[in-house]
Amino acid sequence: MSDTKMPAIIAHRGASGSAPENTLAAIRLAAEHGARWIEIDVNISADGIPVLFHDDGLSRCSNGHGLVIEHSLDTLKSLDCGSWFSEQFTGEKIATFDECLELATECNLGINLEIKPCSGWELPTTDAISQLINSKKTLPPIVVSSFSHLVMQRATTSLPELPRSSLFLVAPPDWHTLLEEVDASNIHLHGNSLLTKKQVADFKASGLGVYCYTVNTTDEAKALFDIGVDGVFTNYPQMLLEHMDN
Ligand code: G3P
Ligand code: MG
Repeated sequence: MSDTKMPAIIAHRGASGSAPENTLAAIRLAAEHGARWIEIDVNISADGIPVLFHDDGLSRCSNGHGLVIEHSLDTLKSLDCGSWFSEQFTGEKIATFDECLELATECNLGINLEIKPCSGWELPTTDAISQLINSKKTLPPIVVSSFSHLVMQRATTSLPELPRSSLFLVAPPDWHTLLEEVDASNIHLHGNSLLTKKQVADFKASGLGVYCYTVNTTDEAKALFDIGVDGVFTNYPQMLLEHMDN
C-alpha cells in the first residue's frame, strides 16, 4: 500500500458539488479535478453488501424510499441515484464499495472510508466492510473513520493494518482517551469557529493529524490552514486546489 497520509484537499463524497455525492461519477470527477483522495460514506444493503450512501434513508439522493439497510443490492441497483442532482446524471446507479475500490485504484485515489452504519448496525456494517477489504490482494491507500466509537473499536481488530481517524462534530472533553483507545492517527472535526489554534496545537502535540469538514470556500480553508489544520474535506476540490498548494 502506498502513502496513507492524506493531502490538504480531499474530495468530500467525491466531487459532490459537481456530481451526485458518493457515486462513481463523483469519484471520477474528483480525479479529473485533480484530487488525490476522496472521502466516501459506506453503509450496507439488506444482504450485507457495502454500498456508498450518506443517509440512512434513500429519498434525498435517489428515487427510492425507505432505508438503505432494508433493501437488497439488486433493488438498490435498480434506483436512479443521479437525477435528484441534475438531469445530466440520470441513471447513475448506487455504487458498491467494491466498485469504488476498483475505480480508486484505476484513478490513483486514496480513500477516507467513513463507515456510516444505521444505528444498531455498527458491528455488522464494520464486519461486512472489513471482510471485503481483507479479501483484496491490493488496495488503494485507505484511512478508516467513523462518528461511532463502536465502529472504531471494531476496526482496530477487523482492519488492524489501516490507519484510523476518529470523527466528531466538536472534539469531546475526553477526546484524548477515546482516540488512544482506538489508536487513531487523526482527528476529523467540523471546521467551525469552536476550533482554535491552541486546540489544534494540542491535537498535534498528541501526534494527531487534524482534518476538517466540510469546507467549501477558499477563505474558510485558508483560515483553517492558518491555525494548523492539515487538510480539509470539500465538495469543490477543483476550486480549492486552484487556490492553494496541495
Ligand atoms: O468524514 C467527514 C464528513 O463527511 C463527516 O460528515 O455527514 O458529511 O458524513 P458527513
Ligand atoms: Mg462523510
